[in-house]
Amino acid sequence: MNTQITISDSVESTQALAENITPMLPPGALLALHGDLGSGKTCFVTGIARALGIQDPITSPTFTMINEYMGSRQLCHMDLYRIADPDELFSLGLEDYIDGDGITIMEWAERAGDLLPEDTIHILFEVLDTPDTRRITINPQETQQ
Ligand SMILES: Nc1ncnc2c1ncn2[C@@H]1O[C@H](COP(=O)(O)OP(=O)(O)OP(=O)(O)O)[C@@H](O)[C@H]1O
Ligand SMILES: [Mg+2]
Repeated sequence: MNTQITISDSVESTQALAENITPMLPPGALLALHGDLGSGKTCFVTGIARALGIQDPITSPTFTMINEYMGSRQLCHMDLYRIADPDELFSLGLEDYIDGDGITIMEWAERAGDLLPEDTIHILFEVLDTPDTRRITINPQETQQ
């Protein structure tokens, strides 16, 4: 996926962006979300879940580190905020997820170090000065491998 920059001015527009990209995600897609606390990462995951017809409320799996949902495709939602060592990713079963058909989304993906595969789709969330405004950059140049 090429670099794509979107300015979102609401929760709804962040979720709509996520819904729109869902059909383009290949089997075993890995989305690595980067950005500060409250920048909209979980909100984006909610949009993906909606596109897959998942009814459950989506919350950051900060303590469990991983939540799984089943919709029209499997969704695995990881949050690495509390990961102590990037190697812990392997005990979470990342490799099995990306070998499957579903979609895996990782919050705080920068904590994975350099362990993510080359075809990972990186998405950067930035809080802008105007209230409720976020800049969302898919595959920013600096994280492309
Ligand atoms: N344009 C926007 N897109 C997304 N969220 C927005 C937007 N404007 C305001 N918000 C608010 O910002 C917050 C985003 O919260 P969210 O849980 O998605 O952040 P997060 O990046 O997952 O944070 P954390 O790192 O703590 O998990 C929510 O309170 C939401 O209402
Ligand atoms: Mg979150």
